[in-house]
Amino acid sequence: MNHESGLRGRSFLITGAASGFGRAAAVSLAAAGARLALGDINAAGAAQTAEQARAAGGEALSASLDVTREESVAALTEAAMRAYGRIDGAFNSAGVLGPMGPMAEVALSDFDRVMAVNARGVWLCMQAQLRAMLAAPAPAGGYSIVNAASIAGLVGSPMLPAYTASKHAVVGMTRAAARLYGKDRIRVNCVCPGPVETPLAGPLFGSQSYRDMMMARQALPEFGKVEDVAALVVWLLSPAASMVTGTPARVDAGALA
Ligand SMILES: NC(=O)c1ccc[n+]([C@@H]2O[C@H](COP(=O)([O-])OP(=O)(O)OC[C@H]3O[C@@H](n4cnc5c(N)ncnc54)[C@H](O)[C@@H]3O)[C@@H](O)[C@H]2O)c1
Repeated sequence: MNHESGLRGRSFLITGAASGFGRAAAVSLAAAGARLALGDINAAGAAQTAEQARAAGGEALSASLDVTREESVAALTEAAMRAYGRIDGAFNSAGVLGPMGPMAEVALSDFDRVMAVNARGVWLCMQAQLRAMLAAPAPAGGYSIVNAASIAGLVGSPMLPAYTASKHAVVGMTRAAARLYGKDRIRVNCVCPGPVETPLAGPLFGSQSYRDMMMARQALPEFGKVEDVAALVVWLLSPAASMVTGTPARVDAGALA
């Protein structure tokens, strides 16, 4: 990605920035000259990502963030507005997998926790971002919000029923917002990755039978990396994607092809 990508000087907010897709997208946006507000419940990890982003050539601030708490989401949004004067785009990546198990046996507290982070968290973040965006004229190519959904937002994952429900919710709120706010030049998309080895997916990758099952579904013969997902996120955030909105964009090695 170079200065011609139109990302230089643009400001982006990233949740789940301490790890995985959030960190990879942050470093990639920073290398294109972006200004970043990075949040994560793991504040030390978010600070490390901010260091990596500055080393890559961008500006970055970081803060502790709990996406399930409205005041915490407001604090990071306000920090971004104070530092950069505007939010041109956001990547809502914070998420949890929750325990694996059949629906009949999932504890209600586990369902509530997964929905709180993955669905309510994206909802709260989008609301704060939309309000900030609606308050100022859109940049060339429009504002852009990208949410982390999953292939589990498009098909059922039998042993991850709460995760599946939460990611279908992310796809739904992405579509609803895209339809309403297109007139305001706010694009809203989500990415639907297949399995990528990160701390979140560690429990899945630890099982050889899971790896074999997922590989058998893929068209391409290897698992994706965080950079493969970040590349799609960065493109969706960039003016190059100015006519793309309401899309659950699969980056799944053809698993759902
Ligand atoms: N890795 C995969 O296989 C995969 C596939 C499809 C979708 N996803 C989704 O992509 C997103 C990123 O996943 P990842 O693989 O990069 O995982 P990751 O574990 O590397 O990163 C997730 C980050 O979210 C943070 N987080 C968790 N709860 C939070 C909260 N309440 N508030 C703020 N931050 C919080 C974690 O601290 C962590 O840094 C998630 O939404 C996940 O569901 C991952």
